[in-house]
Amino acid sequence: MAKMAADGKIFNIGIVGLGDNGMMHLNGFKKLPDCRVAAVCDKRDEARERAMGVLKDSSVVSTPDYKKLCAMPELDAVCVCTPTFTHTPIASLAIECGKDVLLEKPIAPNIEEVDAFIVKAFKTDRIVQVGLVYRYCNLYRTLAAMVEKGDFGDVMMAYCKEYRDNFPTQWFFETEKSGGALLDKNCHHFDLFSWFIRSRPYRVFAMGGQHVVKGKSVKVNCSYAPDQNLMIKNPDIVDHAFVLVEYENGARANLGLCMYEVDPLEGLEIGIIGSNGSHALAKRDVTLNAGGGPQGMMREVPVDYVSDNLGIGHIGAHIQHVEFVQRMRDRRQPFASLLRARESMVVCMAAERSIKEKREVKISEYDSPAIKRLMKKYAAEFESASPSPLPAPRRPKEAKASREKELVDAFVTLVRLLMGKRPLGKAAPFARDTFVAAAKRINADSAYLKMAKGLNTVVTFEYPGKEPIAAVIRDGKLEIVPSRTVVEEARVIFTEKGWEELQAGDSIYRVFLSGNIKVDGDPGKLRPYTEAFLRIGKSLSAD
Ligand SMILES: NC(=O)c1ccc[n+]([C@@H]2O[C@H](COP(=O)([O-])OP(=O)(O)OC[C@H]3O[C@@H](n4cnc5c(N)ncnc54)[C@H](O)[C@@H]3O)[C@@H](O)[C@H]2O)c1
Repeated sequence: MAKMAADGKIFNIGIVGLGDNGMMHLNGFKKLPDCRVAAVCDKRDEARERAMGVLKDSSVVSTPDYKKLCAMPELDAVCVCTPTFTHTPIASLAIECGKDVLLEKPIAPNIEEVDAFIVKAFKTDRIVQVGLVYRYCNLYRTLAAMVEKGDFGDVMMAYCKEYRDNFPTQWFFETEKSGGALLDKNCHHFDLFSWFIRSRPYRVFAMGGQHVVKGKSVKVNCSYAPDQNLMIKNPDIVDHAFVLVEYENGARANLGLCMYEVDPLEGLEIGIIGSNGSHALAKRDVTLNAGGGPQGMMREVPVDYVSDNLGIGHIGAHIQHVEFVQRMRDRRQPFASLLRARESMVVCMAAERSIKEKREVKISEYDSPAIKRLMKKYAAEFESASPSPLPAPRRPKEAKASREKELVDAFVTLVRLLMGKRPLGKAAPFARDTFVAAAKRINADSAYLKMAKGLNTVVTFEYPGKEPIAAVIRDGKLEIVPSRTVVEEARVIFTEKGWEELQAGDSIYRVFLSGNIKVDGDPGKLRPYTEAFLRIGKSLSAD
């Protein structure tokens, strides 16, 4: 947790938009000792009620009207996490009212609104930080530090593979409201490319379209949606694409997006290759491997992928909040500044245009004299070194086991303690309180703590129609947190029957484990979770 600053100032934060992402911000600011969530706003009553239930403080102002929230004199900052097409009207009013702003990405669905807002924001002295949360996570900061140290020579190739299930909100499927799938989903990844390549994007060519998610009414697959029968009306965005980008220094990058995968297998992969032949590959935002080049062999790069988010919903989310507060204090440009965010968003917009118009699109098509002037003024920020990641946790000598084994062991221990002592009684509800109670017992179990020392992971538990629950295991200690956007190291999916059986302590065969568990045997025959089960079964019976 962040340390309280010496001046003792508490920053009052207002949050507008209390969907998935707004709740993540609410949980994040709530963790900071120098912040208070003083007002919440959502058009929906139930969203505000959920937020007030989490805050448990009746003095917090709850309103459906963002204008009322922005006008509150006691607020220092407004966090805007409404659907993209509503971003700039709300953020503009917030800065007019003298507030600093943490604005979710993308800034707006089209370049005209993006540029008008940037110009307006820079005319004020307000801090505006964009929700490019990857810029705050340890994994990519570690990779950036390696790039800046020269481990790769110059990064000349970059790639991203994002094959996943879909999103659960109607507005996302309407270009006018979201700006399209590439803008909403992949501005993060094009931002990572620019960060590592350290040159400006120059031209974009993309192909994409609708394979599956199309028509007047279509059911989408989203593994974490509360409503698994979600019907989307008239989607007009791509459900898949391949994008090629060329940079001014000759570097090239590609990105593949698929939004209709069912039961996603591998998760996000991001790689870079340098002029000296070195290659780095990040998987699922939790592992980083690097190799080749002068060092000559693949190695795992240790990363603390827990402390930067503390299980609140997205890697980097915690540091994003900590640094936002630092910027409110020191009034420096945020690391996820408006100008940096614009650069990645323009690549996405160019890709969307390239798909529509079936041609190569030059980034210069988005030039604006006012933005050019600002880029010149703030050129130094594009050259400056990246903030350091938090140090990776030291692994004690005795805990030399592979990450895979650590995960399975953590899970086994959790399940064993949940079921072995039958603490919950038959068919206790799958509820956060149930896990919190179990975690309290587990944390008091000295035998477990001894065994789990040095263990750092996140296990997410899912159950049909319920909010997923994440167990953050930090040096063995468990913390149970709500989590909808899953920071996933291992993911456990219960069926209703499986949960009951787990409670009864009879069997765990209906608990599915996927995520970072690999198959040792023939991958064609064994699903990853089957293998994990075999291991879990073994460990349990060995007890
Ligand atoms: N940085 C990230 O990694 C990340 C992750 C997820 C979402 N996002 C972004 O966050 C934003 C919100 O996404 P989400 O998934 O939470 O969406 P959501 O649809 O789940 O939630 C949006 C909420 O805003 C409310 N709302 C809409 N218009 C409003 C208005 N005028 N005033 C008050 N409340 C209003 C809705 O009722 C809803 O509760 C989007 O821009 C999205 O792109 C960013």
